[in-house]
Amino acid sequence: MSNADQRPEDTVTFTVEPGGTLNGPVFVPGDKSMSHRAIMFGSIAEGVTEVSGFLNGEDCLRTRAAFEAMGVRTEDSSDGDVIIHGQGSSALTPAKAAIDLGNSGTGMRLLAGLLAGIGVPATLTGDSSLSVRPMRRITDPLSAMGAKIATEPGGTPPIQIAGGHALTGMDYVCPMASAQVKSAVLLAGLHAKGTTRVTEPGVTRDHTERMLNGFGVEVVSKDLVASIEGGQTLKATKVDVPADISSSAFFLVGAAMTPGSNVVLKNVGVNPTRTGVIDILRLMGASIELENPRESGGEPIADLVVKGSQLQGISVPESLVSLAIDEFPALFVAAACATGTTVVTGAEELRVKETDRIAVMADGLKILGVDITPTEDGAKIVGGTLQGGVVDSVGDHRTAMAFSMAALRAEGTITIKDCANVNTSFPDYVGIASKAGLKVSAARGVAPGATQGAAQ
Ligand code: S3P
Repeated sequence: MSNADQRPEDTVTFTVEPGGTLNGPVFVPGDKSMSHRAIMFGSIAEGVTEVSGFLNGEDCLRTRAAFEAMGVRTEDSSDGDVIIHGQGSSALTPAKAAIDLGNSGTGMRLLAGLLAGIGVPATLTGDSSLSVRPMRRITDPLSAMGAKIATEPGGTPPIQIAGGHALTGMDYVCPMASAQVKSAVLLAGLHAKGTTRVTEPGVTRDHTERMLNGFGVEVVSKDLVASIEGGQTLKATKVDVPADISSSAFFLVGAAMTPGSNVVLKNVGVNPTRTGVIDILRLMGASIELENPRESGGEPIADLVVKGSQLQGISVPESLVSLAIDEFPALFVAAACATGTTVVTGAEELRVKETDRIAVMADGLKILGVDITPTEDGAKIVGGTLQGGVVDSVGDHRTAMAFSMAALRAEGTITIKDCANVNTSFPDYVGIASKAGLKVSAARGVAPGATQGAAQ
């Protein structure tokens, strides 16, 4: 549902009492990026794909519903796997209505690339957050490949794809480090004539490349260039989705910055294009160990052991930014609780996520008494003491969870408004975080304390 359509009883407010520590084993849900891709690739593969560990969050359920609307049959097995009955990409039929991707930029951008390539007409819509996010970053290269694809005049959704236009591969030099753009172009290239090559300005997550390999498609990656030959078909396979390192990040930060904490995050995906959060926290002095390293379905996995300590502020190396792009809301909280100053630069992409995450985190942390100066591409954060207060997540799942972890080191209760979208990536966050020791509760509707904007 779009936030604009939200009724008061649909909103969720988190209340987090101050203090406590995080302890014990924590099992976070499946990786969002991989779950989207597993549905997409299983749907266009030939044969039956089984997905274990699928994230039943709203974003990935939208992607699943999108393919069901285009004629793909999926089911849930008795042991919780998602079974996808793929019949090849040519079996997709146009959806009878617009496809609503909800809050999900990944769902919309990857689907646009895939459908433009296959030639299936579609209208792609989203909620009030997705409806203001930039889409020219994908429609420009897709148009250059021959797609007939349009956005609203401002470059925002809905995206209209006119089917039936054969695409030609291209050499695309991507102006921003974005796995979504890289993936949209590669997925269009899968059904284009000739070779499609994407060159990136920085390293981004490579789940598309790895998972396509698992489905029998050759994608060649070298340094910052990924290329694919058009005309390859996908063969059904089994996909094991590990726990999402981006969801784990809230516990990594919460435990690492709170002396007395001792957490083991189980079965976490540690693809090197995603582990920037571990590197950044270690530079801040955090104790994080990887145990039981193993591999599954072409993706590295480990258990993460985190022990709490007093963190130190740092200048975050820009080379780590794209490897931790979703983790900055949590890292801003770590910086607020660290000794000294943390400087983040080169992170302008944060301004075009589900919200402008630099602005939302700066506004909320200021209410909690933090000395934070937002900049165009990051922030300067002076660590110190946090007070309680009422902050607004602005409907962004990651800012909501990040603010909740701040309570571990705050002196008063933190009330967080507009938290329903936590369900997009982390169903049962409150249950799992409470079990680990966070004093968090959720109430439907606007909690009494949540109407004031000032500190308590
Ligand atoms: C994603 C890529 C990232 C990330 C998003 C998921 C993906 O976005 O922020 O949550 O699954 O490809 P960008 O690639 O646009 O930075």
